[in-house]
Amino acid sequence: VTAPGLPARAAAAALIESVLDRGCPLGELTDAADGPLSGLATAERARAQSLTLATLRHIGAIDRLLKRFLARPPQGRARTALRLATTELMTEGVPPHAAVDSAVRLTRADRRSRHLAGLVNAVARRVAAEGAAAWQAAPARLPAWIADPVRTAWGAGALAAIERAHAAGAPLDLTLRDAAAASRWSGPLAAEPLPTGSLRRRSPAQVSALPGYAEGAWWVQDAAAALPARLLPDPAGRRVLDLCAAPGGKTLQLAAAGARVTALDISTPRLERLRTNLARTGLAAEIVAADALAWSAAAPVDAVLLDAPCTGTGTIRRHPDLPFVRRPDDLPPLVALQDRLLDAAWSHVAPGGHLVFCTCSLLPAEGEERVAAFLSRCPDARQLAPDPARLGIPPVWIDAAGGLRTRPDFWPELGGVDGFHAALLVRSEDAVVTARRSRG
Ligand SMILES: C[S@@+](CC[C@H](N)C(=O)[O-])C[C@H]1O[C@@H](n2cnc3c(N)ncnc32)[C@H](O)[C@@H]1O
Repeated sequence: VTAPGLPARAAAAALIESVLDRGCPLGELTDAADGPLSGLATAERARAQSLTLATLRHIGAIDRLLKRFLARPPQGRARTALRLATTELMTEGVPPHAAVDSAVRLTRADRRSRHLAGLVNAVARRVAAEGAAAWQAAPARLPAWIADPVRTAWGAGALAAIERAHAAGAPLDLTLRDAAAASRWSGPLAAEPLPTGSLRRRSPAQVSALPGYAEGAWWVQDAAAALPARLLPDPAGRRVLDLCAAPGGKTLQLAAAGARVTALDISTPRLERLRTNLARTGLAAEIVAADALAWSAAAPVDAVLLDAPCTGTGTIRRHPDLPFVRRPDDLPPLVALQDRLLDAAWSHVAPGGHLVFCTCSLLPAEGEERVAAFLSRCPDARQLAPDPARLGIPPVWIDAAGGLRTRPDFWPELGGVDGFHAALLVRSEDAVVTARRSRG
């Protein structure tokens, strides 16, 4: 494995096989100290990751095209090599000789696939010569457990648009520490200000090399992910509990807005990232490592932000491995956990205080339906509709119940946004802070 770019392609092959054949989440593989990316130079790592993401995003179209040239695709590394070459040829404009040569080398380097190098050579050449005419960049279809509830909620047209948005990928969004500084940073960062205040870079970049990174002037956060924390009215000076806080995008927003934040999370490694993010941005929060279901606060707080664990199906643009690593069985325990976390969160809200509940899911079962169920069992809770003008969003992003719903097919001309649901709840003034409901 010596030709330029081959280590990156070999790492991409290993990543793709781990996702598609073994259901490993890509994030775990890329973070692992001994994972496929270990030992690669920064540029090679970036190349391996972008090739992996592009291949997963287009896997449906890639396999359809390969089927035209090969009725029964080979298994193992030979198949992965052909998939990678097809990505490079059809979506990245890599010169045919480089893509074909790499596919052959990757196949040869694998003991069990070595005998298929000739076949890979022949098929990759045909993809290079004839593929463009037959290539249909039809987006990958979502699995039924995601597609069905999406179609039921918003219709077949919305589902198709969401699948197209997944294939298109996602830009790089940044949230500024100083919300008023967008015009100062947009030039140096080659990023456009969005109506919500986020800065958006269309072209990928090595984040830590961008201007303002070292001084903590901004952090990476999808434009939709930056909305839930902004639902809280007047956070300055208020005590806010961020109950599922790590790695801290929303903690940073709350702290930057002047709130006195307690950031709690169950995961110590993720809290380490939150600590690093606070240090880089010069922002402060009290950090608590605890299970939100078992933790008792010293006193009620003015507001709680609950960014609950969920299927993450709103972030498939950024995580195209998700449909391959998440299972329908994942949903019921997550929904049960979301209910218990909501009850635990509510037990910390002072009378007259607020709760924002959000999830980065496309499934109403993890958003709209959780809020409706919570309101029906919690008579001292009321949902408040946020003001779209203050958030810089179209009014149609607020649903009839007053919930904020974003979808990847929104703002297609601007590059889309992740799928989120967020609800702002207020506790009645005369509520008595109840004993914890969520124990047991
Ligand atoms: C969606 S992520 C939070 C993202 C974060 N709010 C941000 O903006 O960067 C959900 C978090 O919930 C945490 N979590 C899961 N179960 C928890 C529990 N029982 N108690 C506290 N945190 C929990 C996970 O460790 C994870 O960091």
